[in-house]
Amino acid sequence: AQRKQIDKVLALFQLTQEQLVGIQNKMRVEFECGLKKDTHPLATVKMLPTYVCGMPDGTEKGKFLALDLGGTNFRVLLVKIRSGRRSVRMYNKIFAIPLEIMQGTGEELFDHIVQCIADFLDYMGLKGAQLPLGFTFSFPCRQTSIDKGTLIEWTKGFKATDCEGEDVVDMLREAIKRRNEFDLDIVAVVNDTVGTMMTCGYEDRNCEVGLIAGTGSNMCYMEEMRNIELVEGDEGKMCINTEWGGFGDNGCLDDIQTQYDKEVDEGSLNPGKQRYEKMTSGMYLGEIVRQILIDLTKQGLLFRGQISERLRTRGIFETKFLSQIESDRLALLQVRRILQQLGLDSTCEDSIVVKEVCGAVSRRAAQLYGAGLAAIVEKRREDQGLEHMRITVGVDGTLYKLHPHFSRILQETVKELAPQCDVMFMLSEDGSGKGAALITAVAKRLQQAQR
Ligand code: BG6
Ligand code: GLC
Repeated sequence: AQRKQIDKVLALFQLTQEQLVGIQNKMRVEFECGLKKDTHPLATVKMLPTYVCGMPDGTEKGKFLALDLGGTNFRVLLVKIRSGRRSVRMYNKIFAIPLEIMQGTGEELFDHIVQCIADFLDYMGLKGAQLPLGFTFSFPCRQTSIDKGTLIEWTKGFKATDCEGEDVVDMLREAIKRRNEFDLDIVAVVNDTVGTMMTCGYEDRNCEVGLIAGTGSNMCYMEEMRNIELVEGDEGKMCINTEWGGFGDNGCLDDIQTQYDKEVDEGSLNPGKQRYEKMTSGMYLGEIVRQILIDLTKQGLLFRGQISERLRTRGIFETKFLSQIESDRLALLQVRRILQQLGLDSTCEDSIVVKEVCGAVSRRAAQLYGAGLAAIVEKRREDQGLEHMRITVGVDGTLYKLHPHFSRILQETVKELAPQCDVMFMLSEDGSGKGAALITAVAKRLQQAQR
């Protein structure tokens, strides 16, 4: 009987092929909706033009600073690009962003960022250098050019005040001015998906999609200019930051949302928003697991029916723990040890159930990613009138990199849902900072050509 109750909960996370096709189709509808002028203002998948119009061609060169804000780590980087041989050297430093800064005032956040830049320049012996800077800012921004980006709304764990509706490049410039110690030429603001696509595109020209499966969930791709109604011109292509994390915010995923998803949403910083992201990304998967474990415990199916203080604590299941728990090489005893580290006292049976719960949640996430990705590659194939299409997807993010099964299930799902596309996955080894520097290099070259 107990087994039946557990299976009933796990079944809520199992998606049929038919459901996955349905999700793929809905995603496709949202893409088109975001690209059209009339429907764009209401679109939940925002389809934001990025003003990045081409891949680096190997001629870019120079020294660049890059900032990388919005993922697990905040980084400041120095990127040296040499033309011809396509060689890039990078130096970077990771800085912490304390919670009270992430959720303090905008001024404090940007002052902190500039403080970190100052530390880095000092550390590299570059004080006083005036370098072009590319800013990877992994949040939805409305852009009207490559060096302007108005933050639409915070997502994930950020909630600094007075930033939404403001241009983040201006905010950075002003913070640099306030400090009055060095001058930087901010040339480009770039989403992490776009930076990732560029990093991978430098090696593989067929890379026209950028995917992040990390703290957050998002995808960008190269779209035909003629399909982007928001931007003038019909020639060539432009990269679109889809912000697909907002998929479902109009209720179109309600049929697969579970009570646990709803609880996670309600306990988040942005209730009602980013519903697809909350079913798929690293910041939330552990929370879904925790909600299920609480419920199973309440039903007397786990932890001897005792809900410990730890289990009530938000955020205890980080992506790395899920990844460890689901590792096939791990004996159950080790799973118990991990749970113990988390402060959860488990029996052997408990640990089996916990592992199953983690598996169900991460499998659904990978399948949902697969459905979204299948929607974009199929769209690209049809738009180009191709019977068969080969495309490379540049990927980054802790969930993709650390989880033992996520990438495989994602790839299998895409294969099933988009059989006419030959999708190659390329892991970004260098993060999105490198891509941001490459974009900066291209923008700088164009800027100079115009003068
Ligand atoms: C890397 C970037 O490419 O991937 C980060 O350099 C980005 O800035 C990240 O946000 C996504 O991964 P995570 O797991 O750190 O959110
Ligand atoms: C969130 C952000 C998006 C970013 C993604 C991955 O969804 O809104 O801009 O690309 O996380 O970091």
